[in-house]
Amino acid sequence: MAEKNVKVGLAGFGTVGCGVAKLILEEADSIAVKTGLRLQLACVVDVDTQSPRPVKLPDGILTDDLSRLLDNDTISIGVELVGGTGAARDIQLKMLQAGKDVVTANKALLAEHGNELYKAARENDRCIAFEASCAGGIPIVSGIRSGLTANNISAMYGIVNGTCNCILSNMTAKDVDFSEALAEAQSKGYAEADPTLDINGNDSAHKLAILASIAFGYEITLDDIFVEGIEAISKDDIRYGGEMGYVLKLLAIGQKDRNNRISLRVHPSFIAKDNSLARVDGPFNAVSIFGSSVGQVMYYGRGAGMMPTASAVVTDIIDVALGNSATTFRHLHVRPRSETESLIEKIGDTVSRFYIRLMVKDQPGGVAKFSKVLGDQQISLSGVLQHEGTGPDNTVPVVIATHPAQQKNVTAALKEVEKLEVIGGRPVCIRIVDIPEDKEA
Ligand code: HSE
Repeated sequence: MAEKNVKVGLAGFGTVGCGVAKLILEEADSIAVKTGLRLQLACVVDVDTQSPRPVKLPDGILTDDLSRLLDNDTISIGVELVGGTGAARDIQLKMLQAGKDVVTANKALLAEHGNELYKAARENDRCIAFEASCAGGIPIVSGIRSGLTANNISAMYGIVNGTCNCILSNMTAKDVDFSEALAEAQSKGYAEADPTLDINGNDSAHKLAILASIAFGYEITLDDIFVEGIEAISKDDIRYGGEMGYVLKLLAIGQKDRNNRISLRVHPSFIAKDNSLARVDGPFNAVSIFGSSVGQVMYYGRGAGMMPTASAVVTDIIDVALGNSATTFRHLHVRPRSETESLIEKIGDTVSRFYIRLMVKDQPGGVAKFSKVLGDQQISLSGVLQHEGTGPDNTVPVVIATHPAQQKNVTAALKEVEKLEVIGGRPVCIRIVDIPEDKEA
């Protein structure tokens, strides 16, 4: 088969950029055999051209001058791996205006400025491919867009942040505090030096915005997503939840009901120990998707890191060069904001079960008092856990699990509970998420 040369320009020569360069340089032959495409790295742009990198580029292609990429008409594909929402946005727009298709891993940019960029791509008759933006090496974007198109997707539950999953897995397995688990994830290279966007849940929200848009077919924005991170999680709650049969995960959840009401949340979630997602540990990611015909499909793999993310980027480069991405991009339609806004469920209206830990003074009637407040708000208890022994200020931790209750009722009840004289400190409240599981009939 005659080979077609495909020249690629890379902007951003950091960890993933190095992985992309390495993959193209090392696998060009095998890719050519499989696809008939000979990928060539024609230009690599980075502000830092001096630091040593774990990959050796051909002479003369590394530059700090973006115009060498933009003005080179033989480069048909621009890969943006700069990250962030400032310079990266400018670079993608310039690539599109210069007539290049764009491949990116930049979820923050797509979640915040996706519509502007998609519009610019259409105006320039180009496409944007973004498989690497969600869950690293897992082909989840193409899984939803190409593999599940026939289905009406009703829900997705994802562990889409490896940093948080490493931290929570460590806290669970070793009974260590958040700060110790974070330090270990950083020392192993699984967490960024500045992990703020990971641990506060925003990185997961960026990914959920992208995945929910394509899965449900509505224009989702970050404002539609309720976000709570894992910074305040204590090892005690992970242990007590474990005693009740649950494992703690940071979940990105998208649900669409029969009336197309859409609930979008990222928050720490207790899930049943025997659910498939409970066994996803360390830096791994997984997403369970529920389709009307297929039932449950679970995608699992490495959600971050140099080579897994490079795998998604280079696969996108190949798909763009084959013309597949242009077709899928052209047919990527979502209902506009005007049809979406009224369908987004407010967090107060969501119904869930809850894990609540209260520090109750060790005296007669303590449990009865807070139980009454919960009962008055229609919150029914499904389980209670209390160990003997006292903690600070003569209090004992009392842990309860509730039956399904509306979030606003729980919030109102806890406000009242906190005022009770028998309660010490602030209540801890973590949602229990009952993920359906397709089991053999
Ligand atoms: N920082 C992300 C994570 C990887 O920890 O999963 C890139 O999305």
